[in-house]
Amino acid sequence: MLWLVMELSLQLLNPFWPAGYKGIDVRAQSPLKVGSDCQTPTATTPSSKLPDYFETTLGWYAGPTATGESPWLAQTNAAPFAGVSYIPNTPLETQAPISGNKHGRNVFERLGHMSPYFPNPRGFGVHEYPIPLGANVTWLNMVHRHGSRYPEVGGNELRLARKLTEAKGKFQAHGALSFLNDWRNVLGAEILVPVGKQQLFDSGTLHYYQYGHLYPNDGSRIIARTTTQRRMLESAEYFMAGFFGLGWTQNATLELVIESKGFNNTLAGYNACNRTSWDMGGKTAREWAEVYLLDAHERIRSNIQGDLDWTLSDTYSAQALCAYETVAVGFSHWCSLFTYEEWEAFEYSLDIAFAAGTGFLSPVGRAIGIGYVQEVLARMQHHVLSSPTAQINTTLDNNTVTFPTHQALNFDFSHDSNIISILVAFGLTQFAEYLPPTRILPDREFVMAYIEPFAGRLDIEVIQAPAPINPNRSVAIDKLYENGPPTSYVHFVLNQRTVPLGRSLKECGERDDGWCEMNTFFGVQKMQVEKAEFEWACFGDYEMPEYGVVRDGRPPKKE
Ligand SMILES: *[C@@H]1O[C@H](CO)[C@@H](O)[C@H](O)[C@H]1NC(C)=O
Ligand SMILES: *[C@@H]1O[C@H](CO)[C@@H](O)[C@H](O)[C@H]1NC(C)=O
Ligand SMILES: *[C@@H]1O[C@H](CO)[C@@H](O)[C@H](O)[C@H]1NC(C)=O
Ligand SMILES: *[C@@H]1O[C@H](CO)[C@@H](O)[C@H](O)[C@H]1NC(C)=O
Ligand SMILES: *[C@@H]1O[C@H](CO)[C@@H](O)[C@H](O)[C@H]1NC(C)=O
Ligand SMILES: *[C@@H]1O[C@H](CO)[C@@H](O)[C@H](O)[C@H]1NC(C)=O
Ligand SMILES: *[C@@H]1O[C@H](CO)[C@@H](O)[C@H](O)[C@H]1NC(C)=O
Repeated sequence: MLWLVMELSLQLLNPFWPAGYKGIDVRAQSPLKVGSDCQTPTATTPSSKLPDYFETTLGWYAGPTATGESPWLAQTNAAPFAGVSYIPNTPLETQAPISGNKHGRNVFERLGHMSPYFPNPRGFGVHEYPIPLGANVTWLNMVHRHGSRYPEVGGNELRLARKLTEAKGKFQAHGALSFLNDWRNVLGAEILVPVGKQQLFDSGTLHYYQYGHLYPNDGSRIIARTTTQRRMLESAEYFMAGFFGLGWTQNATLELVIESKGFNNTLAGYNACNRTSWDMGGKTAREWAEVYLLDAHERIRSNIQGDLDWTLSDTYSAQALCAYETVAVGFSHWCSLFTYEEWEAFEYSLDIAFAAGTGFLSPVGRAIGIGYVQEVLARMQHHVLSSPTAQINTTLDNNTVTFPTHQALNFDFSHDSNIISILVAFGLTQFAEYLPPTRILPDREFVMAYIEPFAGRLDIEVIQAPAPINPNRSVAIDKLYENGPPTSYVHFVLNQRTVPLGRSLKECGERDDGWCEMNTFFGVQKMQVEKAEFEWACFGDYEMPEYGVVRDGRPPKKE
């Protein structure tokens, strides 16, 4: 492409680029603005009227600007996850007293998909292992959820907020609920809250440490994909700022895929699917709420006098308001109204809703994520996607400008329910448990807070080794490599913990490190694509099954 050639040659002409020197606005001369199809340029023009002391873009007197080598912590970390020894910067107040809570537990990690990001603390069943000497992490495909946000416009939380606003002055609240007399709605809708931006910036930073080395050293820009929705675009931007710095538009071009009903978009796959099971999920979650929430409901009702018809659904929404107010303004009175057990049960209701909404208990679970799986496989095998299958937009995917096939660093941004479906479409049946709506299934694998909290992320790595690596990673170091040809592996990392592929995909074998030999992985995934039955699942006229009938993320067989 023309602008790429120009970018490189201009750099060669000016050996001091990009440090610049007095009198020349190097950024304004940057070829990135010449015929560039990318982001709004960030530089000012040389004709800026600002006095020099207000000018931040000239780059003069900048001092030495040597950058060190790109990190590659995914490769070089010899002791990952030995323990928690570092507490990150956390502006939220998460220490409000919770009845029944014990030391070391935190209800903000019990909020399902509304939990602010935290790395999965218990893992997915295997330990983490370092990259053996001589092997290399050579490729990454990340799909990242947006950060913490305000509630969605159509949700019950804002409905409750409106109801309380309208009822103001007509009721009196007492006891633990006294705060309600002065309560005001402080929430916006849909877009990122401040800590949601931080989550993405932090993740960009983390990913730079992990994979900075994979950024091409010829300075070319990578393509990263997100959707047109505001919080999706902003999430991608904050991530890029964390990964590359504020000049990230020199390093990455964002591709915005249209997110709206009827459009093909693998980052919002449900928009190209006519069938949905969210009703089934919601109904079953409500069934469970009618079991666990009655005590709390009575406590709240007994503290309200006057003209306010407080329903069970309001009690449930009050739990969600705790989650949303905390990330929006840092503290919420709603949180302390519920006991620790009620928070665990709330979390479980969200697990049910998502398992039945787009997980293995949904007939469209596999179908919604299958287009993305095909994209990952195509990228891994370096080809475009030319025939429209599933919700793939071939206008974009049949073109190496919009679907590069040789990028080592692939960043995508998506939504919780879509990423759940992607895990299902990959066939990760370790998350396929049936969740009874009558009691909490203890020690279950499908915990939304561990799988898709706000800013949750799935990192798929390819590791190239000079020989096969022993599946028993406890062997002596001289036994780590087996005899055989160079071998590549696929490694799934979900919220900083390995998902053991062999546990769900038997062909991958029982490896301590959870990796899967790459050709084996391709073979298994081909079968997953067929299993999804996209056309039938999304457009078939089957009767929506009762909750619990579907266990494998696909609908009943066609008659
Ligand atoms: C981003 O691109 C610029 C211009 O090519 C380059 O100077 C900079 O080092 C790149 N950033 C990173 C983090 O590699
Ligand atoms: C595919 O993407 C292109 C480019 O954004 C858009 O114009 C087109 O409407 C999309 N098609 C579908 C079916 O989503
Ligand atoms: C994909 O691209 C190739 C080459 O540009 C073209 O021949 C083919 O018709 C395209 N397929 C679709 C479905 O657009
Ligand atoms: C969108 O997906 C449908 C269903 O697979 C397909 O028929 C259609 O050709 C796709 N459109 C594009 C632009 O890829
Ligand atoms: C890993 O990278 C190093 C340094 O670039 C290279 O010498 C080595 O051959 C690579 N190993 C494999 C298995 O590709
Ligand atoms: C793995 O290797 C260690 C050390 O040789 C041995 O003690 C252990 O039994 C092996 N585990 C399996 C499952 O073979
Ligand atoms: C999808 O649903 C819409 C609205 O109900 C309908 O108009 C359309 O024909 C359906 N599409 C398919 C392919 O079934």
